[in-house]
Amino acid sequence: MGNDLIEKAGDHFKQLVKEQLERVEAMKQAQDWIDYGTLKPIIIGILGGDGIGPFIAEESRRILEFLLKDEEKAGKVEFRNIAGLTIENRAEKGKAIPDDVMEEIKQCHVTLKGPTTTPRKGDPWPNIESANVALRKQLDLFANVRPVKVPREGIDWMFFRENTEGAYVLGSRGVAVSDDLTFDFKVITGQGAERIIRLAFDYAKKNNIKKVTMVTKANVIKTTDGKFLETGYKLAEEYPELEVDDWYIDIMTAKLVDPKRRTQFRVMVMPNLYGDILTDEAAEFQGGVGTAGSANIGKQYAMFEAIHGSAPRMVKEGRAKYADPCSMIRAAALLLNHTGFQENGRKLEMALDICGQYEKKLVLTGRSDGCTGKEYSDYLMETIELPDLEKKWQSFQ
Ligand code: IPM
Ligand code: MG
Repeated sequence: MGNDLIEKAGDHFKQLVKEQLERVEAMKQAQDWIDYGTLKPIIIGILGGDGIGPFIAEESRRILEFLLKDEEKAGKVEFRNIAGLTIENRAEKGKAIPDDVMEEIKQCHVTLKGPTTTPRKGDPWPNIESANVALRKQLDLFANVRPVKVPREGIDWMFFRENTEGAYVLGSRGVAVSDDLTFDFKVITGQGAERIIRLAFDYAKKNNIKKVTMVTKANVIKTTDGKFLETGYKLAEEYPELEVDDWYIDIMTAKLVDPKRRTQFRVMVMPNLYGDILTDEAAEFQGGVGTAGSANIGKQYAMFEAIHGSAPRMVKEGRAKYADPCSMIRAAALLLNHTGFQENGRKLEMALDICGQYEKKLVLTGRSDGCTGKEYSDYLMETIELPDLEKKWQSFQ
């Protein structure tokens, strides 16, 4: 007894090792960064997703088209709607991302994606892989960049979450050896760690930020998190102007709540799962996950999304139109900044700050006692058009 099980698990593990070695080789060969300045047009794909996704994605698209109307006219950008990234279609095809949808996504340079439902055991849906995770892996979107800012409290954080490996890389490939014994895997590669940490260091350097903090649990998860830290400290030798330190995820989670300490953190870089958890916590200071956008960046493609889920309950209760679109609109600002339209990105960020944190002429509550997502985006667009937008924003700082 047992030997069969051991053999089977061993074969499974061998296969995983083989695939991961191939991934390392692919990373070594990876192409260089795409240059958006040379593209005409930059193709922006819009994916509605599930639940409240199509509602909030629509508001974000309206604002993007509003801000890029001249560029669209001049043929510098093109918008494409991509249908089919819905749980119904994914379940029917039995795939995290159906092939034809993937093909269309790959024809775009960047995408703006509404949240998608991630099935789990016991759901009415087949237990297929999360569309987010699959997209991140298939397009090699290795950096999940999540800003959180609360200026009046001195909070100005930029999170660099590794997005293609760590505890997520083999999410649906764990082994149930027997009824009693189950394994999942965590993978960290030197290449994977280096590219995300380098991006964080470069960001800090470019923006004149002196300090970068790595977050791991390397005292316990010694092999993989140890590799992450070791890679980071070695890379830090190339950046003498930066002060690089590291914290463990548990105390880091605590320190974000400490008003005296939290403002000292600026740029943080960490493996996948820690970044998932820490960025939800961080977003809470800014007004909740509904207010935070997320950029998934790779060398060839980039995808921009909300950091939260598809909130099917809101749809069921008929409240989808009251859903807060700000996370998707923040994602649109990240898209603008990433693709070379920083001036428009900044205008949008200022409008989001004015409307959401200071002026608050309209408030979203997720219910009929608040405004609708559409009304809120009209409010944002009116604010963007103010001749004294910059002055107004400054007056609140
Ligand atoms: C996020 C989300 C996803 C993740 C889910 C939907 C798979 O929580 O983008 O943070 O865990 O990465
Ligand atoms: Mg998350």
